Amino acid sequence: MDAALEKRQVERAYELYAPVYDFIFDWIFAPGRAAAVRQLDLQRGDSVLEVGIGTGLNLPFYPPTCRLTGVDLSAEMLDKAVERVQTLAMPNVTLKVMDATSMDFADDEFDKAVATYTISAVPDPVAVLREMRRVVKPDGVIVILSHFRSVRRVMGRLEDLVAPLCTRLGWKSNLALTPLLAEVSLEPELVAKVNMFNGWRLVKCVNRT
Ligand SMILES: C[S@@+](CC[C@H](N)C(=O)[O-])C[C@H]1O[C@@H](n2cnc3c(N)ncnc32)[C@H](O)[C@@H]1O
Repeated sequence: MDAALEKRQVERAYELYAPVYDFIFDWIFAPGRAAAVRQLDLQRGDSVLEVGIGTGLNLPFYPPTCRLTGVDLSAEMLDKAVERVQTLAMPNVTLKVMDATSMDFADDEFDKAVATYTISAVPDPVAVLREMRRVVKPDGVIVILSHFRSVRRVMGRLEDLVAPLCTRLGWKSNLALTPLLAEVSLEPELVAKVNMFNGWRLVKCVNRT
């Protein structure tokens, strides 16, 4: 599908999700969030990029001593994140509407990057991960948390079966983790199962050159 069309579809989908996103998704996804930010092992002064920050549900987990930049394609989702930044009084946070497949940041600009529940919700996960690699310094940490295709045969098949429906709702149910990481030359240092039914995977990589 045409990339501009896919981008518009995502924008339209999250324009609809934005008012109800926290109500529907917060409780399901909550346990993985703290774990994902914890895996960044944030040190005083670290610059960290959150890709597809959405409504900013991860914001409470960041220490005030890091410099956080959050980007998202959806202005409506980001509006909610702006409200959350104000409520939490976080002057260390900058938010920008931006397409994660071509980010307006210099090479090696960030110490660390994280994407929670985003990689399986973007039309082009390879392009997003390549961009994350580009903007994170060599040996910087990249953490992703998403649902990936099960390695169990029956469950994997089921996820293939429901994939067309899930795509319509805005995410991929059968994105396979190992080939995805291989395509962007990332090797996981840690893969942990999180959330309900251990259905999501928390992946920590080091940005080796
Ligand atoms: C399922 S939501 C996850 C939001 C948030 N990370 C969280 O943990 O709740 C996926 C987010 O990815 C964003 N997104 C999708 N495609 C994107 C792209 N190409 N660039 C930036 N953000 C994108 C959507 O707008 C949406 O806010």
